[in-house]
Amino acid sequence: METIRLDKCVAQNYGCSRREAGILIRKGLVTVNGVPVRDAALKVSGADQVRNAEQDLEVVTREAPRYFMLNKPRGVITATDDSEHSTVMSCFWNEAGGLFPVGRLDLDTEGLLFVTDDGAWAHRVTAPSRKCPKVYEAELENPADPGLKEIFAAGVLLRGEKTPTLPADLEILAPNLVRLTIYEGRYHQVKRMFASQGNHVISLKRIAIGGIALPEDLLPGEYRPLTPEEAALF
Ligand code: URA
Repeated sequence: METIRLDKCVAQNYGCSRREAGILIRKGLVTVNGVPVRDAALKVSGADQVRNAEQDLEVVTREAPRYFMLNKPRGVITATDDSEHSTVMSCFWNEAGGLFPVGRLDLDTEGLLFVTDDGAWAHRVTAPSRKCPKVYEAELENPADPGLKEIFAAGVLLRGEKTPTLPADLEILAPNLVRLTIYEGRYHQVKRMFASQGNHVISLKRIAIGGIALPEDLLPGEYRPLTPEEAALF
């Protein structure tokens, strides 16, 4: 039976980094077969019962992490649990627990969202230092001013923030339809970038993340596993 390190197992289950998992373990908050273990390098397998004693949750030990792409539909929230809305996890059937979404799309945004149980991988996709490109198509209320290309390439200051956005690439596809590539993931970033220039995003779709494009035949609500080659890009 395959084994994995305890910190990796905890990170996969909670969507945290290995460092954060290590802190939880060193605090004695993780038990293996009922015994608190402070050694993050301990190898565990599917035969071990691992628990997060702080939250009294079972940690599922998996032999291999899983990676999916979902075409997130509008109207579902990017979370594992919500008292008001359906979550993106409701799109998944026949998959055991432990999965969580990587990053976040707004309730009314659709498109490419990764879902995994590998916290370290998720961290690599979203870490600001990696500047992973994310491509969005946006329908705008007003025609896009051609000057926006230069403005977004230079970076804009969003309301309430101290540092300008990183240079972003804008393509104007039609008067009210644009494609924007950003290299960070601030709160409501695309909508706020257009709002900062007096325009308004009417609909928003993410069409690619880090070189992986949303396939045209993957309809909203559908998902498929990433190939090993795709998962290895991050
Ligand atoms: N930017 C936004 O404004 N919303 C999203 O869902 C993603 C990026």
